[in-house]
Amino acid sequence: MSPTTAVTSGDELRPMTILLVDDEWALRASLRRLLAPEGFQILEAPDGRTAMALVARSIGLPSGWADAPQAVPPIDIIISDLRMPEASGLDLLRFVREHAPEIEVIVLTAYGEVADAVAALKLGAYNFLEKPFDPPAFLLEVKRAQLLAVEHRRGRLVRAPVGEAMARLVGDSIVMQELKTLIGRLAQSDATALILGDSGTGKELVARAIHERSPRRNRAFVPVHCGAIPESLFESELFGHVKGAFTGATATRAGHFEVAEGGTVFLDEIGETPPALQVKLLRVLQERTYQPVGASKAKKGDFRVLAATHRDLSRAVREGKFREDLFYRLNVVPVLVPTLRERPEDLQLLCETFVAERNRDRETKLLPPGDECLEAMRRYSWPGNVRELEHLIERISVLKDSGPITVEDLPSVLRETVLPAALPGFGAEARSMNLNAELNRLEVELIRLALKQSHGNKNRASQILGLNRTTLVEKIKRLGLQPFADSLGPGEKEAF
Ligand SMILES: Nc1ncnc2c1ncn2[C@@H]1O[C@H](COP(=O)(O)OP(=O)(O)OP(=O)(O)O)[C@@H](O)[C@H]1O
Ligand SMILES: [Mg+2]
Repeated sequence: MSPTTAVTSGDELRPMTILLVDDEWALRASLRRLLAPEGFQILEAPDGRTAMALVARSIGLPSGWADAPQAVPPIDIIISDLRMPEASGLDLLRFVREHAPEIEVIVLTAYGEVADAVAALKLGAYNFLEKPFDPPAFLLEVKRAQLLAVEHRRGRLVRAPVGEAMARLVGDSIVMQELKTLIGRLAQSDATALILGDSGTGKELVARAIHERSPRRNRAFVPVHCGAIPESLFESELFGHVKGAFTGATATRAGHFEVAEGGTVFLDEIGETPPALQVKLLRVLQERTYQPVGASKAKKGDFRVLAATHRDLSRAVREGKFREDLFYRLNVVPVLVPTLRERPEDLQLLCETFVAERNRDRETKLLPPGDECLEAMRRYSWPGNVRELEHLIERISVLKDSGPITVEDLPSVLRETVLPAALPGFGAEARSMNLNAELNRLEVELIRLALKQSHGNKNRASQILGLNRTTLVEKIKRLGLQPFADSLGPGEKEAF
């Protein structure tokens, strides 16, 4: 293996730093002998406590951690024993996950310490290696962790604390409960899932939640914005390239799929992928291999694929804009993320959550909206969904430090969108509104009403609405109302 431990620019040029933590001096020495020739800069600590002090110093944590030597370079990877005097490896891991989540931690376990290894993985260790280990396998594992470390440095990979996305997915409505159940099931499988929903509904959050709950949780979650990569760079970004593959390829570089080894690739905005590139993605998904630009051999990959789009992909397929084979490959399990207007009952909880977050960040004493204000919010169509609500509360919190959010704090578009709560029929007070958004909302409300009255029976609901059944079924599908219809009772079984 060549010493390719420095990455290409700026801060990226400093060597990779590994902190070895073990109470046995001889073990540290042998690891150092293995790693130093690969170009790694090595730091050592004989116990968890010293290691924590070094980490604290390296990230500039003040107070209490002053017993470390002066300048400590940023640490990229920690390789740590579990059982040590002072603080244990698990204590160290907890500390690192809390204060320096971008550091990858590889844990060393003695033969038979299975429970400890499992605990370490749960806490977010990258992997564990059983002692005594085989040097080539050991180096391979370190090189893999190094790939992630490079991405952390480039800011292309952000590690969120484990469990965060699921906890963040606020909502108690039936549709959200169903979504969370589905996330739980999907996390247990390795199936490819296509996450569908309007802009700002939380598709990326759902993808992260699936990854976080899955056995792949300690490996990378790599978002790829399919529409944002120039066509000419697509292969090198996704599959990597070898040094000298093209002008400017001054070093071998791993692509997204390689970084995601063992983890999850999130193909975001998959609907924006140009046709020429769709076929390349299809090949990777079919064969689970990819070929770095300029490499002579394809690499076998182990990754899970989640994709998302706000587009109606089946329509894009009908219109010839999206490959049918790729669509079926991705759409193994469709996951519909409801719009905010489909779950008005969650508005209160979402407001409370965002207000509490703003108060925490800004040390303010803002209170969530009262009934009147919530009512106005429920009448609004929320074209930007949860993201729009989050931004709204952020804006209000800048202007107001305390007391409840009231109708007066709402922007005029919200105050003036006075579609009456009782449907159908518009009230005389309607002054200005976005017609399309309102019609959409009205359509959703009426279909929900009809479905409720018919206990989920689409034949009856279509009669109530004066639609033919096929049109209603299509609308239910397009508007993401299927989970709602299913929640109302047995209905009739039908497959889309
Ligand atoms: N159910 C939810 N509870 C709390 N916050 C949420 C929820 N859904 C989304 N958010 C927040 O709303 C914002 C938008 O979410 P996210 O980026 O996942 O949406 P998206 O569907 O991927 O949007 P886009 O289509 O624009 O990419 C994020 O800040 C996210 O944390
Ligand atoms: Mg998104």
